[in-house]
Amino acid sequence: MSDLTRWDERYVKGDTPWETGRPSSELQRVVAEIPISPCRALELGCGMGANAVWLAQQGFEVTALDLSASAIERARQRADEAGVSVRFLVADVLNPPPELTGPFDFFFDRGCYHVVRREAPQAYVQTLRRLTHAGTLGLVLAGNAREPHEPGPPVVSEDQIRQELGSLYEIVHLREFRFDQSQIDSNRYLAWSCLLRRRSEAEPAMGKIVSIVHKPAGIDPRPPDHYARVPLPTATLEAGRGIVTDSKGNRPERELNIMALESLEQLRAEGYRTAPGEMGEQIVVSGININKLAAGTRLRFGKDAVIEVVKPRTGCDRLRQIQGCTPAQVAGRIGIMARVLVGGAIQLGDAVALIDADGN
Ligand SMILES: C[S@@+](CC[C@H](N)C(=O)[O-])C[C@H]1O[C@@H](n2cnc3c(N)ncnc32)[C@H](O)[C@@H]1O
Repeated sequence: MSDLTRWDERYVKGDTPWETGRPSSELQRVVAEIPISPCRALELGCGMGANAVWLAQQGFEVTALDLSASAIERARQRADEAGVSVRFLVADVLNPPPELTGPFDFFFDRGCYHVVRREAPQAYVQTLRRLTHAGTLGLVLAGNAREPHEPGPPVVSEDQIRQELGSLYEIVHLREFRFDQSQIDSNRYLAWSCLLRRRSEAEPAMGKIVSIVHKPAGIDPRPPDHYARVPLPTATLEAGRGIVTDSKGNRPERELNIMALESLEQLRAEGYRTAPGEMGEQIVVSGININKLAAGTRLRFGKDAVIEVVKPRTGCDRLRQIQGCTPAQVAGRIGIMARVLVGGAIQLGDAVALIDADGN
């Protein structure tokens, strides 16, 4: 059975446990809080239209789409009854028709992203790329992987949201809330409220390089109480190696250890020594929570270099010996291991940007 038939049948049978009959409380809260003024708005996977109608009542010029023709028919009735005008479309968010043109200034999604991302997160982002502009705000409400339920809404983790949506959008807030109670399910499922703002092409930078160190040949390779590391103002990254002058590079899983400045500041406050290289890292970045990046996430360093996250760092015996910490004391704060995919020159102060697999 195709997705289209499956969703449509659910509406025909009334198997719609997400339908509350009311506009989402979280949508209303965020529109009031930011505030988001009436503008051209797009709703993705709008179901029976309660949110689209509410946005139109607030003065937004609303286009709303859903895969299910039955849902759209009910949504049109709802708009008629409310006496508002909404442009409803039966359309696939993963392959929207050419007549759907943007750009929209605001988009809203309650429960569509968490469904379609399982099949094609990149196609979803591609649609957003086509239909939004720099500065567009988006509110995505999705099930939260910290409380999976069966049955219940599909869930997504914080890392997945950051990885999938963070390449095109700045994440303005990512906070937990509970979905409103629906008409046929009394549970209030834990969810994410993710407010996004599209970055401009000239503003891909989300962070910057604040420290680079290497272990050159010719120094004592293993002092007993500190790492052998020398700070650098500039360096060259080489694919398949790491920092070209670093004798610690060249290991497939760990060409680079990268840490977040914000974690180092916390660790310093707890008494650890955190001058450049003292936690065994090669590069420190500010402005991006490196610890949260999933394996496979790509970052551009400076103009040319591209690195890929391999896995979180867990800390070796040497770190414990030098810093006197247990793995649990530093877990989730000592950054990631990464490999260099594209080489290039880097220097202190260079921009660091999350990018997608196409390099955007
Ligand atoms: C969990 S429901 C949420 C409906 C509505 N947003 C709400 O809050 O009541 C998910 C909706 O996404 C729609 N949907 C699923 N896949 C879709 C796709 N590829 N394109 C457009 N809509 C889709 C379904 O038909 C359904 O209406």
